[in-house]
Amino acid sequence: MKIFIDTASLNEICEANDLGILDGVTTNPSLMAKEGIKGLDNIYAHYLKICETVDGDISAEVIATDYDGMMREARILAGIHNNIVVKIPLIPAGIKAIHSLTTEGIRTNCTLNFSAGQAILAAKAGATYISPFVGRIDDINWDGVALIEQISRIYAIQDFDTEVLAASIRNPMHIVQCAEAGADVVTCPLSTIMGLFKHPLTDIGLERFLADYHKSQA
Ligand code: E4P
Repeated sequence: MKIFIDTASLNEICEANDLGILDGVTTNPSLMAKEGIKGLDNIYAHYLKICETVDGDISAEVIATDYDGMMREARILAGIHNNIVVKIPLIPAGIKAIHSLTTEGIRTNCTLNFSAGQAILAAKAGATYISPFVGRIDDINWDGVALIEQISRIYAIQDFDTEVLAASIRNPMHIVQCAEAGADVVTCPLSTIMGLFKHPLTDIGLERFLADYHKSQA
């Protein structure tokens, strides 16, 4: 399973990349806004910086919601760097755009996925990735991880090539559960990736080893 970081913060991207376990980056307009990046030219320049920092797939989202607008933006985004994957919303014009972009050889990440039926449409259109939003489903008292499991099962039965990219990951257990459910990728905030390290017995054990070492050297 690949691990992507879900942020537009270059500091956080560098910190995760330094761990040596990072496979890519996802962003969205909200994450770009959080970094205070304004104007399409600055946004495109920021995507290039991210691509130059991480050697892996970098998802860059379109702003347009009509077919022609999405196609225009997608071609610009794909021209920024070979590693750009264009993020397209799961709406009828988006599915049509994904189909056309796939024909042109432009890779896509179909975003805002909340059901297995939607995920079938994305796979039929040829999306490179489908992004089911685990946390946002849990937020409304449904089961986000169950959706990952269902889509992974359908894609395996139907032999679809689209990869399941579990998004909206909120805690380290989501990562573990998505791995068990068959996700190909999880995209998570830095704090959630760092949460995977946490175990009190690791800290206590290390403290004891060091204390014993220092005692023996006295
Ligand atoms: C990533 O591709 C999604 O845009 C992101 O994971 C959404 O996460 P959120 O639900 O925490 O905003």
